[in-house]
Amino acid sequence: MGIAAFPPCVRAARALGVPARFAAASDRVPSVHPSPPPAIIAAPFDSPYHAPVLVDAVLATMAGARSVLDGTLGGGGHAAAFAAAGMQVVALDRDREALQAAGTRLAREIASGQLRLVHANYADVATHPDLATLVVDAVLLDLGVSSHQLDDDARGFSFRTGAPLDMRMGDEAEDAATLLNHADQRTLAGWFRDYGDEPRAARLASEIVRRRATVPFTTSDDLVKAIRGALGPRTGPGDFARLFQAMRIAVNDELAGLARALPALRDRLAPGGVLCVITYHSGEDRLVKECFRSWSTPCTCPPRAPFCTCGGVAPGSLVTRKPIVADADEVGRNPRARSAKLRAWRRAA
Ligand SMILES: C[S@@+](CC[C@H](N)C(=O)[O-])C[C@H]1O[C@@H](n2cnc3c(N)ncnc32)[C@H](O)[C@@H]1O
Repeated sequence: MGIAAFPPCVRAARALGVPARFAAASDRVPSVHPSPPPAIIAAPFDSPYHAPVLVDAVLATMAGARSVLDGTLGGGGHAAAFAAAGMQVVALDRDREALQAAGTRLAREIASGQLRLVHANYADVATHPDLATLVVDAVLLDLGVSSHQLDDDARGFSFRTGAPLDMRMGDEAEDAATLLNHADQRTLAGWFRDYGDEPRAARLASEIVRRRATVPFTTSDDLVKAIRGALGPRTGPGDFARLFQAMRIAVNDELAGLARALPALRDRLAPGGVLCVITYHSGEDRLVKECFRSWSTPCTCPPRAPFCTCGGVAPGSLVTRKPIVADADEVGRNPRARSAKLRAWRRAA
């Protein structure tokens, strides 16, 4: 069966509007920490920019691959590991700063022709002119933000006091302040509920609308005060992290982008190729899990159909039935690994 004839990933397509069930809960582990604990022992591909997670597990799921698309270059840790394993690498990031930093770090691999960097959103892989003919043995998405993006207050991902409410990873038009000042109350409530798993999302949205009528939101302190005002004085860093993360997902349209990207990236795999995704948020993980499951199921008939009429053949199979998570050593060395979940799917040979 040609790759174009794959049964559509119904759930992923529906998620272009991101139904709430994909976006239900955010990870309980704060992924935006006021002062991230430093790594204790550096692993081979760590850099001051970012410490990559689950490197050995990613390499193991891609065993035998000679070419790879790294859709989330970041600090270039995974890309460096791929290059060290002898793979030909194309790496994307929507953040120009990440491309610049990783380009310096990996200058030798670029000069030798082993690594090519492209400024792109992985969700645009089907239409980006520089990626038009790309076919690879493996793809990696390592979602979310890098430690450098979190640590740089000017990028506005953090709730450290005085940080601007920006949160844009790339060239998006509207920053977090703009959305907080202009989005309607229902939309705000939907973001905090669906991306932040916040039961009092409506109250928080109403508090934001009340406050912005007098003073527009400009810094992290404005959002922290609104969260405290709506949810009470006992709210703490975990709540701020979760709700700032919800705004980051909205600003960068992350779940809809992922839903669009998964089938497009699958279609760039050579026969037998592997798609690996590392998630840090339960909405992301659910989306990946449901896509991979639906692509591993031969029959695409409606569940209530009395018998199979599609004669379907599964386009591939699960490499990981349960997500791979970091062991205690890795979490001790790199606290960011705590909420990471790796899932992988293989295209039929
Ligand atoms: C967790 S970091 C990746 C770290 C990387 N694996 C490493 O080893 O250093 C995520 C990176 O993906 C980028 N990113 C997030 N969403 C993206 C998207 N839709 N398209 C391209 N890059 C994206 C972010 O800008 C960030 O640099």
